[in-house]
Amino acid sequence: MSPIQLTRTLPADATDAALRADVLHGLARHPKTLPPKWFYDARGSELFEEITRLPEYYPTRAEREILVARASGIAAASGAQTLVELGSGSSEKTRYLLDALPALHSYVPVDVSESALRGAAETLLAERPDLSIHALIADFTDGLTLPDTPGPRLVAFLGGTIGNLLPDERAVFLKSVRSLLSPGDALLLGTDLVKDEETLVAAYDDAAGVTAAFNKNVLTVVDRELGADFDPADFDHVALWDPKREWIEMRLRARRALTVKIPELDLVVPFTAGEELRTEISAKFRKEGIRGELASAGLTLTQWWTDSADRFAVSLATAV
Ligand code: SAH
Ligand code: TRP
Repeated sequence: MSPIQLTRTLPADATDAALRADVLHGLARHPKTLPPKWFYDARGSELFEEITRLPEYYPTRAEREILVARASGIAAASGAQTLVELGSGSSEKTRYLLDALPALHSYVPVDVSESALRGAAETLLAERPDLSIHALIADFTDGLTLPDTPGPRLVAFLGGTIGNLLPDERAVFLKSVRSLLSPGDALLLGTDLVKDEETLVAAYDDAAGVTAAFNKNVLTVVDRELGADFDPADFDHVALWDPKREWIEMRLRARRALTVKIPELDLVVPFTAGEELRTEISAKFRKEGIRGELASAGLTLTQWWTDSADRFAVSLATAV
């Protein structure tokens, strides 16, 4: 048996049905929205990797700094035999954890992006031929079932991706993570922190326009999958800081009045000039807020680490 197992818990037609439902509901309401998981086709995953290398996009570097400094402490605290990683993408920062866990039995990366999972699993296998890799193509918001691998388990959710969920979605998600944990297991959570508006907005509106291309890629996905005729050039990328809700909001703003046809849904969607479609939020956190959200899901914050400039935090939590 190949040491890489790729399991699809999202059948291709379920993805298709979910995309249809999301586009149908999201574009019929006011304000219009599209959910973020549709950013990550192969091109979207590539663009995200480019974002992580931008000078303005500090979260990846800040989280890497924490992992480099703390991986051995995290490894010792968890004693993990299985590392599960939600939204693993390229698994690039995960290496620091894997290096600190030389006796790890299994790595279970979970992502909606098949191309990202394949790339990451192949690279890792070359480095760690002993490791059994169970890659899951799955939606982490949709009732995960994990493979039967030895505990203790460390469930990592890095990159600040939890901030891409709305508060009520986060509450449901954290409870579902809690239900995956047995005594002795732990959650390792990466969260971006509240900071000055200028730094935050620049991270989501870079000078080279990579984030703009990433945001507009969701239109290309809808064009390809549902035969729509969105022209990305008709939209401007917008990134706004909402100080009350403490999140960055990404939008696409129509440059003129236009209509988009989506034949596969029998839908014609009008946009007024300047109308905005919300594509993504990226919530920023404070320690007490995270402690509270974890506690509401039955999780206890046991460790909290930040980078040297206090931009980003990595927390360890256990089941109560
Ligand atoms: N962990 C990596 C990647 C973060 S980008 C890092 O820290 O750099 C977010 C990742 O989550 C992408 O790879 C995307 O494909 C994945 N993702 C987004 N929504 C998802 C969902 N609902 N279910 C599973 N994966 C998802
Ligand atoms: N999890 C990342 C974040 O919130 C995802 C992300 C980075 C993103 N840049 C983006 C999502 C731009 C949409 C648009 O930082």
